[in-house]
Amino acid sequence: MVKKRTIYVVANNYICRVAEIGKDISKAKDFLENEQLVAIPTETVYGLAANALNPIAVAKIFEAKERPTFDPLIVHTHSLNEVQKFVTEIHPALLKLAETFWPGPLTLLLPKKEIVPNLVTSGLDRVGVRIPNHLLTLELLSQLNFPLAAPSANPFGYISPTTAEHVNKQLGTKIPYILDGGNCEVGLESTIVGEENGEIIIYRLGGLSIDDIEKMVGKVSVQLNQSSNPKAPGQLKSHYAPKKPVYIGNVIDLQKIHSGKNIGALVFGDDIKLNETTTVKNLSSSKNYQEAAVNLFSFLRELDEADVDVIITNLLPEQGLGLAINDRLRRAAAL
Ligand code: TXA
Ligand code: MG
Repeated sequence: MVKKRTIYVVANNYICRVAEIGKDISKAKDFLENEQLVAIPTETVYGLAANALNPIAVAKIFEAKERPTFDPLIVHTHSLNEVQKFVTEIHPALLKLAETFWPGPLTLLLPKKEIVPNLVTSGLDRVGVRIPNHLLTLELLSQLNFPLAAPSANPFGYISPTTAEHVNKQLGTKIPYILDGGNCEVGLESTIVGEENGEIIIYRLGGLSIDDIEKMVGKVSVQLNQSSNPKAPGQLKSHYAPKKPVYIGNVIDLQKIHSGKNIGALVFGDDIKLNETTTVKNLSSSKNYQEAAVNLFSFLRELDEADVDVIITNLLPEQGLGLAINDRLRRAAAL
């Protein structure tokens, strides 16, 4: 058992513990083995992890995130062999995706074995499984004798974290340890894929593009915005949302509409000239989609924390990762 070095801060007259941030895998392992939560880095976003096979540990995730229990969690592991322990079968097309894209930003919905607690899947028959592509977390997973349930490490509904400091700011007082793996290299959550009656279905757009998936398994169908669909209860219309209102449209027009307010603008490319008084964050001056994905959540946070009243943004071209980025922007703007 790790000796806890407890740090206290006084904030708003409350005394609260703050998380330790470090790269110590054995410390992370020790906390997880003792039913504690640890924030872990992945290539997509940081996750808030607990022993996926232990309902007491998993319950702490819902509590810390203030997440409704109808929203199921993704189970993370380090090898396809391990995945077989939690699922009854893998459809051949999904297996092909797993073999091609794992470790990587892909989550597969697979029929679960009983060993996976119902709390993890919100009572659904399928479990979301993913092998993340981050060396520190893969090493941690291979040293544990259980998989890790991990949603994004943000309070429910808020912007996902892409650095250890993002996690610390929002959940630092609720967890003992944040494993620091640097900046997330993809920046968007995993693409969620499953199979129904032989058809391959994408339930959440994410860091792996539809084009890449279709190159491997042919035409897929996309079923998003399933807020009332129990297959993906977490796909709520409003999500990834800053506290400030977000407006989508032509940013020049939006700037006029909101004149008189302090405006923050999230733009893509160098071709739009905005007023000097507008605080501008450029997702990618060279219109590189990967760069835009990496910057998206950080820049939304920065604008949320800046001295602005509203955030205005224009959608990206609907291609490649632009589709997933636009999905996040629409949910950020939804009320
Ligand atoms: O990239 C990611 O996927 C990150 C990192 C940490 O791995 N995780 C993540 O988890 O984004 P979270 O909890 O923020 O989003 C998980 C979503 C749920 O809201 C739900 O839409 C879907 O995955 N999901 C998980 N398990 C499911 C299941 N059994 N059936 C249907 N949808 C499921
Ligand atoms: Mg999330």
